[in-house]
Amino acid sequence: MEKIKTQIQKGNIPKHIAIIMDGNGRWAKQKGKPRIFGHKNGVTSVRESIEGCAEIGVEYLTLYAFSTENWNRPKLEVKTLMSLLVTSLKKELKNLQKNNIILNTIGNIDLLPKNAQKELFEVIKQTEKNTGLTLTLALSYGSREEIVNVIKNISEKVVNNNLKIEEIDEKIINNHLYTFSLPDVDLMIRTSGEQRISNFLLWQMAYAELYFTNTFWPDFRKKNLFNAILDYQQRERRFGKTSEQLETIHE
Ligand code: IPE
Ligand code: IPE
Ligand code: MG
Repeated sequence: MEKIKTQIQKGNIPKHIAIIMDGNGRWAKQKGKPRIFGHKNGVTSVRESIEGCAEIGVEYLTLYAFSTENWNRPKLEVKTLMSLLVTSLKKELKNLQKNNIILNTIGNIDLLPKNAQKELFEVIKQTEKNTGLTLTLALSYGSREEIVNVIKNISEKVVNNNLKIEEIDEKIINNHLYTFSLPDVDLMIRTSGEQRISNFLLWQMAYAELYFTNTFWPDFRKKNLFNAILDYQQRERRFGKTSEQLETIHE
């Protein structure tokens, strides 16, 4: 494992990694266990990813923990996921402090059960003075809903003469997203073999590198994260330019 880590080039670490943590249910099913057994085991993978990112100097890690669409799952699964969130926040606070992590959240948090909201804001408050990695949990998050809200908020400002239509640009839109304080995503990882975005950070991933792995989330460890970063470091991010143009900039 240390070997994989030493191959990572220090000068080319993705600043913002976003992960779609998928495959908990299938992982559990393979073992003849209920889906929630997979969710519970996914907590270790969350811890490993946070630590791995902190170790190599990733500044922002955003984890897709619960989507707006996930509210449509069986009531019992939703309920158990919410209580798992509460117990994990309580249990992991010590680790977050130890690793100097700042907790942040995006999504329609008002929809979460009251005790989950309370625990979330408690941990956010307790970690706000930390100076290391910013860990953002996407909870009750949907990118389309986020964009609809941006349009409503901006329209309101225009109607109230607080903003001119000509002033609307990408920066203004960025500043109205849940992610206003985060940079664009550099690397998006999805586990479990599915190759789709599932309504996650559509605007923010416009130029992200996408990495898909067949590993189910509960099996995801630091070494899987480092492999994804190594893969990212092989890529040439051209942002619309030609390779030759990028070479002249490097010279
Ligand atoms: C991801 O695993 C966790 C959440 C979406 C909350 P899944 O629960 O989607 O697991 P699969 O995809 O059904 O295997
Ligand atoms: C996406 O996974 C949401 C999270 C990981 C929280 P899903 O399992 O809900 O996505 P689909 O339904 O397979 O696209
Ligand atoms: Mg899934």
